[in-house]
Amino acid sequence: MRTIIKGSGRFLPPRKISNHDLSRWMETSDQWIRQRTGIEERYWVTQEGRTGSSDLGLEASRLALEKAGWTPGDLDLIIFATLSPDYFFPGSGCLLQAKLGLNSIPALDIRQQCTGFLYGLATADAYIRSGLATRILLVGAEVHSTGLDVSTRGRDVAVIFGDGAAAVCLEGESTTEQVGVLAVSLHADGSMAESLMTEAPASCCNPRIDEQMLRQGRHYPRMDGRNIFKLAVRRLPEVAGEVLAKAGLEARDVDLFIPHQANLRINQAFEKAMGLDSQKVFNNIQKYGNTTAASIPLALDEALEEGLIGPGAIVMFLGLGSGLTWGAVLYRFQP
Ligand code: ACO
Repeated sequence: MRTIIKGSGRFLPPRKISNHDLSRWMETSDQWIRQRTGIEERYWVTQEGRTGSSDLGLEASRLALEKAGWTPGDLDLIIFATLSPDYFFPGSGCLLQAKLGLNSIPALDIRQQCTGFLYGLATADAYIRSGLATRILLVGAEVHSTGLDVSTRGRDVAVIFGDGAAAVCLEGESTTEQVGVLAVSLHADGSMAESLMTEAPASCCNPRIDEQMLRQGRHYPRMDGRNIFKLAVRRLPEVAGEVLAKAGLEARDVDLFIPHQANLRINQAFEKAMGLDSQKVFNNIQKYGNTTAASIPLALDEALEEGLIGPGAIVMFLGLGSGLTWGAVLYRFQP
């Protein structure tokens, strides 16, 4: 049984935020953000609120379902990857399920941040290969903007993140061809958890959040950016080599690398370390910022739309993020 992508879709909220907009709220500049990250603009939900990750996920899911020629009733599992769930609990997967008009298929959330799509794809593949599911909707969706410190205190993190969602429809197909998910390599190092985290609300605190925590900004994400940067530059080529070895392939066999969009400089360093032509590495962080769990499927959907992925193409998805978690998935499109 092979896990095949039958359709994809993406959705961005309507509020476009430029680097110049950010420089009105905090001490930063277009030049600093472009030079350090490559980001030019990102999309945030409207200030009135009431748009959660499941709402963005719903729009992306509708488009993916349409491309696959499916209706929600065709699904037998929803996997929802996010670090910004609508609620502390229940998970956004359940909320999306109801918004799709469904009320009994299983729905699960993946809380792996930037590698959420990779962990989600590996999970979907395992469900399909084991016969537990046949038609799966995998969604990556984030609303970061409502949880960012847009003052100068939070500028190192706030300038990076964008809201957005993307979804893929995955189907199990019985074939002897080498297509679909070819190989997976996933990793985590929990000893680095505190280098990129949002601490509160926290179940280890009673109450889970209080005025002092709010004053200290412990409900905002914090990141040891420099250290994460260095680790990403080391781990991404390493895991790419690992997944290629599992599939018995070489880097030159891959038609397109679709890395997580955390920082353009990280992806350029990956390209250099692997000795790749820049056209082989897809980047769209310039337009969307880091959309975490949405970033890889968002890039995939755009690459497909731009005609960059032809029949039979081999694609590598890879990334590193909070957890720390990192990984890579090799996928071959049907000839
Ligand atoms: N505007 C202007 N100046 C800033 C800003 C800003 N937005 N943010 C930080 N600075 C300042 C700092 O205060 C510092 O000033 P100082 O030298 O006077 O102390 C200076 O700029 C340099 O700061 P650094 O943090 O060292 O800058 P760096 O070059 O490392 O870039 C960045 C920061 C962009 C965050 C980078 O480290 C990075 O991209 N790291 C990796 C992020 C990542 O991959 N995260 C994982 C995915 S996200 C997830 O999983 C949720």
